Amino acid sequence: MKISFSEAKLPSAGALVVGVLADRKLTASARRVDAETKGAVQRALKASRFTGAKGQWLELVAPTGLGADRVLLAGLGKPAEIDALALESVGGSATSKLLASGLESLTFLVDPIEGAEIGLADGAARVAYGAKLAAYRFDRYRTKEKADAKPSLKTLTVGSEEASEARKSFAPLDKIADGVFFTRDLVSEPGNVIYPETFAKEAQALQKLGVEVEVLGEKQLAKIGMRALLGVGQGSERESMVAILRWNGGRKRDKPVAFVGKGVTFDTGGISLKPGPGMEEMKWDMGGAGTVAGLMKALAGRKAKVNAIGAIGLVENMPDGNAQRPGDIVASMSGQTIEILNTDAEGRLVLADVLWYVQDRFKPQFMVDLATLTGAIIISLGNAHAGLFANDDELAERLFAAGKAEGEKVWRLPLDDAYDKMINCDAADMQNIGKDRGAGSITAAQFLQRFVNDVPWAHLDIAGVAWSKKDTPTVPKGGTGWGVRLLDRLVADYYER
Ligand code: BES
Ligand code: MN
Ligand code: ZN
Repeated sequence: MKISFSEAKLPSAGALVVGVLADRKLTASARRVDAETKGAVQRALKASRFTGAKGQWLELVAPTGLGADRVLLAGLGKPAEIDALALESVGGSATSKLLASGLESLTFLVDPIEGAEIGLADGAARVAYGAKLAAYRFDRYRTKEKADAKPSLKTLTVGSEEASEARKSFAPLDKIADGVFFTRDLVSEPGNVIYPETFAKEAQALQKLGVEVEVLGEKQLAKIGMRALLGVGQGSERESMVAILRWNGGRKRDKPVAFVGKGVTFDTGGISLKPGPGMEEMKWDMGGAGTVAGLMKALAGRKAKVNAIGAIGLVENMPDGNAQRPGDIVASMSGQTIEILNTDAEGRLVLADVLWYVQDRFKPQFMVDLATLTGAIIISLGNAHAGLFANDDELAERLFAAGKAEGEKVWRLPLDDAYDKMINCDAADMQNIGKDRGAGSITAAQFLQRFVNDVPWAHLDIAGVAWSKKDTPTVPKGGTGWGVRLLDRLVADYYER
């Protein structure tokens, strides 16, 4: 879809979106439409229960007196409710309503609103951002979709009195959305298409944006001692890999920020095999890695002034004659030994080695890892928050604030000696699952913490948010791309020079 910014003029065809404030108060653009149509807007308000409350919509089809074929009234609520996320929702909802409507163009008219939380140019940019995020589809395997069900929208225009400022404000958002789409694609692709080697190839494509990409195969991983990671992949025909992505947008002497992703391209559970129903969902067990890759694309795309590392552990967890057994003991790269009591608790084994490697080699300012790590986090938080664990309050607070601002919310859970004890073990330095069933997400985080020294570190358990079964205004169902926006914001607000 082509997105452009223009002056605030009424379109000659297609769909037109104008805003209405709470208590049926028309914006300037809505008043213009009302005048051109000899009162059709006011009549429509009287004929419905639309009040202009935030999130309401009312549609006028083929209004007399206008070139536009449809007018959509968007409820904006009270001025104080009009912020970046609300305007993204307006852009996103209108786009999903009209994407396959048969119309080819969609125009938004954005007005300055006194008392709004966001200014006109930034607001117009957020409408476009929401529209772009909503227009995403993962449809490359649908060969029989009927012509009249396919997307028809081709152009999107956001009209305002500050078009050139809005265009400028949109430029970085456009690049972040490209990063989100990269993540969504990677996560939605099935396990026969995305496996360690093909994931690494996709990451290498970021080289054309200036990202340095290094890929380590099994030979090199064995040489540096990543036996915890390699144990997970040893039952798979696919070679395990680690991909290291580097974006050098900062000064030479600036310490990098580091992001680490769990990239289990398919998780059968291994010998501790998962039940059959629902197992297909485990194609998205590389969601953390997908987010790290999308984030690196966003940072490079908008030329962020920061040095960033993206480190991705890529394995497939399969059961076969060579697979790791329950009871096996492996030595991790850190030297600590691990008794594998459940081969389905594999993500932590992958992250343990990659976290250790990253802190040792890059001495980062902080590390944030992302992983679809535990089903238990879905029991705790559902799909509305990711779980946050951190050894550093400042980093935790920054993640919380960035998540709130971008609509990708996190909720902090505790780390504590009482939970750490639960992974002590007689046979080795630790075991890979807790001694009893309680606190499954926390014991997983405690496990990771044993591979982190004194660097500020946070762990995001994204099992509940990496995939969505229902559409929301800016996130169609499927791979969500969760975390790209949050982490881009974290970098932009606190770590760019
Ligand atoms: N990838 C899963 C976690 C998961 C489950 C993600 C459901 C998304 C939806 C992870 O590797 C796993 O299997 N975790 C186990 C840990 C258990 C064996 C201690 C779990 O959560 O059941
Ligand atoms: Mn598992
Ligand atoms: Zn897993």
